[in-house]
Amino acid sequence: MTTEIKDSGTVEAADGHGLGRAYFERAAGFVLEVIERNLPVFRDTYPAPASEGNVYPGIGNIEWTSSFWTGMLWLAYDLTGEAKYREAAEYQLASYKQRIEEQIETETHDLGFLYSLSAVAEYRLTGNETAKGTALQAADLLAARYFPKAGIIQAWGDLSDPEQCGRMIIDCLMNLPLLYWASEVTGETRYAEYAKTHVAQAAKYLVRPDDTSYHTYYMDVETGAPKYGNTHQGYADDSCWARGQAWGMYGFLLSYLYTGDKSLVGLSKRLTDYFLTRLPEDGVVYWDLVFTEGTEQEKDSSASAIAVCGMLELTKHLPLGDPDKRRYEDLALELLAALGRRYTTADLPGSNGVLKHAVYNKPRGMGIDECNLWGDYYYFEALVRVLKNWKPYW
Ligand code: GLY
Repeated sequence: MTTEIKDSGTVEAADGHGLGRAYFERAAGFVLEVIERNLPVFRDTYPAPASEGNVYPGIGNIEWTSSFWTGMLWLAYDLTGEAKYREAAEYQLASYKQRIEEQIETETHDLGFLYSLSAVAEYRLTGNETAKGTALQAADLLAARYFPKAGIIQAWGDLSDPEQCGRMIIDCLMNLPLLYWASEVTGETRYAEYAKTHVAQAAKYLVRPDDTSYHTYYMDVETGAPKYGNTHQGYADDSCWARGQAWGMYGFLLSYLYTGDKSLVGLSKRLTDYFLTRLPEDGVVYWDLVFTEGTEQEKDSSASAIAVCGMLELTKHLPLGDPDKRRYEDLALELLAALGRRYTTADLPGSNGVLKHAVYNKPRGMGIDECNLWGDYYYFEALVRVLKNWKPYW
């Protein structure tokens, strides 16, 4: 394979696998078609986190996932420059503003996902001051979830809830950019300090010596002592939840972008190398990496889409002489193409999703073998990364 990603992020293709720029343009064209059909439907409502029978119901802006839809609108605008996508994304800002002002379902670290892909994206792309203020309000609420003794941001629930108190989760790495961004725009260092301390604790306690990851880990918020790791969405406490590993692959790098701490690139590499040892024949992982080829378990295409974004970012930070640079580039493009060939809803005309065969939460019976909104978002982000020199909203 001779596909090459230039500094511009553009694929200059000439290879035997048909993975040229034209291939990825067609794949992005399909995502744009789905977005176009959904534009009038998801304006005052948002797709639910997971589809039902491959169709997303519409819900209010109450879930941790709303911004994956708004983020797709920003990606569509970024890629095409077409005003209709920008208008649709801008229209939704009022809903995010109301949500943070009225604190509707805001007791969650997912404020990072929610406001990075909506208000921060808008501020970065248009300079809108209301978007900036809204994102800063979200950053304040996120920062309030930081426990100084434990050095972590609590993932879920009320801060005094004994079941959730002191619990960090690997997904949170994706929420930290909101804090770094807040420090950049306000000059107040505390946001970034919380994020840096959290990422160090995540590296220490969530990543295991064999380069797998815990989904969640409890810290004692009074003494700062580590307690124990367990799972919420994985198969077992000591297994490796596929999406968690992908959040780690990408998430540690996002902190590297803001801190320049090279050890985070090394961590991302370790998690990536483990993930790549667990690929089934068609390149799309099962929902927990304990499962491999031959199992009846479901795939989680969303984990693969996140992993591809992480690998595309990772290649940017490896020196030219590093043989892994080319290996990750090639594999990322192959995995992205594998998703495009067999995992999109192109053969399901009644679907309003993009990527099928994902799993939301298998232990709780949620969104199993369905589309999910973050799978759609990261698949599109990966395509945009390949097709243009994309500046992350994260
Ligand atoms: N961050 C929640 C999930 O990945 O399901």
